[in-house]
Amino acid sequence: VTLDLLLIGFGHVGRRFADLLVECRPALAALGVEPRIVGIATARHGALFDEGGLDAVAAARRIEGGGVLAPAGVPAVDLMARLAKAGTGIPVLVETTPLDVQAAEPALTHVRAALARRVHVITANKGPVAFAYRELAGAASESGVAFLFEGAVMDGIPIFNLVRETLPACRIAGFRGVVNSTTNYILTALEEGEAFDAALGRMQAAGVAEADPSLDVDGWDAAAKAVAMANVWLDAGRSPRDVAREGLGPETAARARAARAAGRRLKLVASARAAEPRADVRVVLEELAADDPLANLDGQSNALELDTWPTGRIVITQRDGGLEKTAYALVSDLVTLARRRGARA
Ligand SMILES: NC(=O)c1ccc[n+]([C@@H]2O[C@H](COP(=O)([O-])OP(=O)(O)OC[C@H]3O[C@@H](n4cnc5c(N)ncnc54)[C@H](OP(=O)(O)O)[C@@H]3O)[C@@H](O)[C@H]2O)c1
Repeated sequence: VTLDLLLIGFGHVGRRFADLLVECRPALAALGVEPRIVGIATARHGALFDEGGLDAVAAARRIEGGGVLAPAGVPAVDLMARLAKAGTGIPVLVETTPLDVQAAEPALTHVRAALARRVHVITANKGPVAFAYRELAGAASESGVAFLFEGAVMDGIPIFNLVRETLPACRIAGFRGVVNSTTNYILTALEEGEAFDAALGRMQAAGVAEADPSLDVDGWDAAAKAVAMANVWLDAGRSPRDVAREGLGPETAARARAARAAGRRLKLVASARAAEPRADVRVVLEELAADDPLANLDGQSNALELDTWPTGRIVITQRDGGLEKTAYALVSDLVTLARRRGARA
């Protein structure tokens, strides 16, 4: 199956994805999947489109070297129209623009435009699923295309795949998790007596913090992830703006150190429970007992505990998050998409 990819967003995740596609090419070919990047769109670094395929790795190095792709940027939505018409492969939008917690833009516009043109969508941006899951899943099903977002929560750990593919007919009553790498890294550093700003700076330098780091430290990213999961598994119909949310700051250091001294850990816990009329979703700083499965997480680690029936409590842990894992989630979504097409062909 040949997949023609349009990358909207070519930042940390988009560029790592371009590299990983090359590194995974033999493994993907063995699965019968041949992705080809035909378009790239950015906000300030220009755009490229060639229906015969682009050298995206060279494009990534050009941007990292301070260059741009083309002097005049082409609006991303125009490229989508070209993608839908062009090429022989299956058209796929790979959306990795920054998270926006006010309205999920510009990602929502990009995803809607793709689905309306029967273009498949894979994204690491949690905005669309956190703001408009019901609408987008409905539009995808109406157009007969995929809307996949494995990289939106817990980087490369396959949580949406886990539930969809391996827990058929299972009921999810709720979940709780540590799902934001930046704040877990900062909390661990604060426990060890490091300064808040220095720890945050390291996450920014590593490309792990959001473009606007207040989205991490004020709990927005965790809220968007919790809502994304609650919308998919609990039909919550919520948005990140209407859930209880707590964040952290330099003043959190004393609480983190006191908890540690008492044998406990302070963690930013995102959780949801099925409830009437709508699921209860929240992000709260909690002191956890040492034997809590969410307590033993250092640095960028994430963990999620699913409360399921009849399979009980399932805990999945990612010891080291990061860019490569998010890029891998996009690769795995490509394979999911190709398998679905193969099953239908
Ligand atoms: N970084 C991580 O570890 C991680 C992990 C999981 C999920 N995510 C999610 O993945 C997404 C991307 O993260 P990132 O770290 O790659 O962000 P980033 O480095 O800030 O890159 C964002 C990219 O989007 C482009 N962009 C912004 N507005 C655009 C528009 N209107 N049209 C076209 N392109 C536009 C930017 O263009 P310019 O290059 O011109 O600025 C840039 O190329 C975010 O939604 C984030 O929440 C990230």
